[in-house]
Amino acid sequence: MADPQEVLSRRVQSALGAAFGPEYADTDPVIRPSQFADYQANAALALAKRLGRKPREVSAAIMEHLDVADVCSAVEVSGPGFINLTLRDDWISGRTRELLDDERLGVPVQERRNIPLDYSAPNVAKEMHVGHLRTTVVGDSLARTLELLGHNVIRQNHIGDWGTPFGMLIEHLLEVGEDSPEADLLTTDPNAFYQAARTKFDSSGPGPEEFAARARRRVVALQSGDEETLRLWRELVGLSKVYFNKVYAKLGVTLTDDDLAGESTYNDMLAAVCDELEAKGIAEISDGALCVFLDGFTGREGKPVPLIVRKSDGGYGYATTDLATVRHRVEDLKADRILYVVGAPQAMHFKMVWAAAREAGWLPDSVETTHVQIGNVLGSDGKILRTRSGAPVRLMALLDEAIDRAAAVVRENRPDLSAEEQAGIARQVGIGAVKYADLSVAHDTEYTFDFDRMLALTGNTGPYLQYAQARIRSIFRKGGLSPEQARADITVGHAAERALALKLLEFGPVVAQVGDLLQPHRLSTYLFELAQSLTAFYEHCPVLTAGTEAERESRLTLIAVALRVLVQGLDLLGVEAPEHM
Ligand code: ARG
Repeated sequence: MADPQEVLSRRVQSALGAAFGPEYADTDPVIRPSQFADYQANAALALAKRLGRKPREVSAAIMEHLDVADVCSAVEVSGPGFINLTLRDDWISGRTRELLDDERLGVPVQERRNIPLDYSAPNVAKEMHVGHLRTTVVGDSLARTLELLGHNVIRQNHIGDWGTPFGMLIEHLLEVGEDSPEADLLTTDPNAFYQAARTKFDSSGPGPEEFAARARRRVVALQSGDEETLRLWRELVGLSKVYFNKVYAKLGVTLTDDDLAGESTYNDMLAAVCDELEAKGIAEISDGALCVFLDGFTGREGKPVPLIVRKSDGGYGYATTDLATVRHRVEDLKADRILYVVGAPQAMHFKMVWAAAREAGWLPDSVETTHVQIGNVLGSDGKILRTRSGAPVRLMALLDEAIDRAAAVVRENRPDLSAEEQAGIARQVGIGAVKYADLSVAHDTEYTFDFDRMLALTGNTGPYLQYAQARIRSIFRKGGLSPEQARADITVGHAAERALALKLLEFGPVVAQVGDLLQPHRLSTYLFELAQSLTAFYEHCPVLTAGTEAERESRLTLIAVALRVLVQGLDLLGVEAPEHM
């Protein structure tokens, strides 16, 4: 057991049981990092009330039964009744050394749960915008983290591949020709294809043979399963997939075609969803549309807001599909916990869909649903990021620009490397910087997209962390050995060494916390602090030129652990770790 907080919790809990009786043995001992020691146990303050005694008396009773001689070098009561706990140096160094032989680096294995994870979800024949980029990056990091914690993550890429715009898109595809350069735009610049179709539709005359009328007939043909129309639709979706996969490959995210479960997947279930809701008396016809009215969802003047499941023209919508999706995830995927990594503006939509699903009995109380809300990415003008002309930013162009900018820096800093090596590093750094920018701030806050800031080599950036691990690799290269060869005993004689080791012990608990709270930025913050501990360590503790051989070996072993933690941590964020920088 390497997690100091966990170890101290257990010890204090046994003391509580011994001092006040077994019914106190599972009281939260409230172990927190402390300014005055490594940790403090604050349990006495809350317990004092329950026991009707003074906090300092309670602390004294705990102290009497506290057996931590093998873990702590000092234990004292301070202030109103805090117990300050200072860890023994040899305990810290021993646990840190153990991490080296632990494949999991202290990351716990949690009880396995089935977790459908809805993320990315771009729309066919539309540009994947920075909002989709962020849900993709945050979702992928959560997938990696939950998997490492032992869960069965079922990736669900709910792409927008159905709906009325497909009438106009299919007609446009027919007009330009399936093998034309215009059709090829779907794989390179889907928004251009969409806009061309849109322009035709908007400027079309009203006649029955004109574009708009044909497009409308196409929608009907699509919905009624006309084979030729379906073939064209599949063609459209197929070309869009090529585009999505290009973006995913460039980003290095774990999504594959097997994870696609787009809106169209649920078509056959929508009629039954509506019928059941109506039969159960949950949905009712209002102004010709089938609606669910839910308690607690009211708009202006207290008027109930309906969840429309079938429009008055008989069409189904986004909410109907999401109801079918919930059913599928619970019944077929056996979900224990369902996560939706989707833009914050859809919060109301999900609340209503889940409430309706719970009423219908499709979503049992035992299944927890969470909307991991994604905040907007803003431009320097404080508005949603757009190009200067006002068009949505092309994601591919954005990623390429990040790589180009990183390449300029790499060329300048590392003229000694071959052009090929430089290009490889530029890709890792450019993409890493963009992804880390999404992951270093809380997922639900807005942030301003700023190339200069995200590519900086200092501060809480991807490149800074990538550099921290590359620097360790370079120390090993200079020392003429590989990190795997560093396997000496660790001693933590200097305060900076001690702080670094203690930081490394926090890795496992932080990863568990990210999985529980669904907040990847906590891992980013941790890695940033770890990199800072390393910098402080180098300042005071020379490694290759250490005073004694034992010190040198100990320090090499310590940074070998740090290297593994940094690489593993970056991998959980989906950020690559370059050999050189
Ligand atoms: N395609 C949608 C969009 O671009 C996101 C879908 C999210 N997932 C879901 N189950 N509704 O906004």
